[in-house]
Amino acid sequence: MPERGLFHSGLLLSALLLASGAALAAGAQEAAGNSSLITPKVKQIYKIDCAFCHGDNGNGKTDAATSMKMVMLDYTDPKSLEGKTDQELFDMIRKGKDQMPPEDASRAKDTDVQGLVAYLRSMSKGAKQTAATPAAPAASPNPNR
Ligand code: HEC
Repeated sequence: MPERGLFHSGLLLSALLLASGAALAAGAQEAAGNSSLITPKVKQIYKIDCAFCHGDNGNGKTDAATSMKMVMLDYTDPKSLEGKTDQELFDMIRKGKDQMPPEDASRAKDTDVQGLVAYLRSMSKGAKQTAATPAAPAASPNPNR
């Protein structure tokens, strides 16, 4: 019967739509998965092994950089890492270059280095957040009034 045929193709279509919806959701999860790489351990490694030169917030304006005459990128500026791939940054951290010491596998596993890359990239977003925070206390109502 033609009605039945129509019913079946409608079912097939909604099944296809469901499937593509699921695929989209999976893609979004993958992108968000990047920030899940930034574990407390990764932040700890950054503090101990990297902040000395790159700065707590990644802007590279450190005494070490000045005294060792190192030219540092400012990671709080999104343009700094724009042209570099994750792989390039990963290799840089793992192998080092010039004054930049290599990060040994005994100190940071591959997933930790991936986390460091994600962490550095997140610093330009964090900078915008900190810039917005000082306005908050001024706006909060004074309880003594
Ligand atoms: C002794 C100072 C020093 C330490 C410690 C250090 N770096 Fe660097 N880093 C540098 C310098 C200098 C450069 C630029 C090297 C060049 O391009 O010749 C650099 C470059 C980089 C780059 C490539 C992008 C750029 O800024 O040019 C990344 C990524 C990076 N460092 C991440 C890290 C991470 C992550 C750590 C900690 C595991 C770390 N660095 C520790 C000095 C340091």
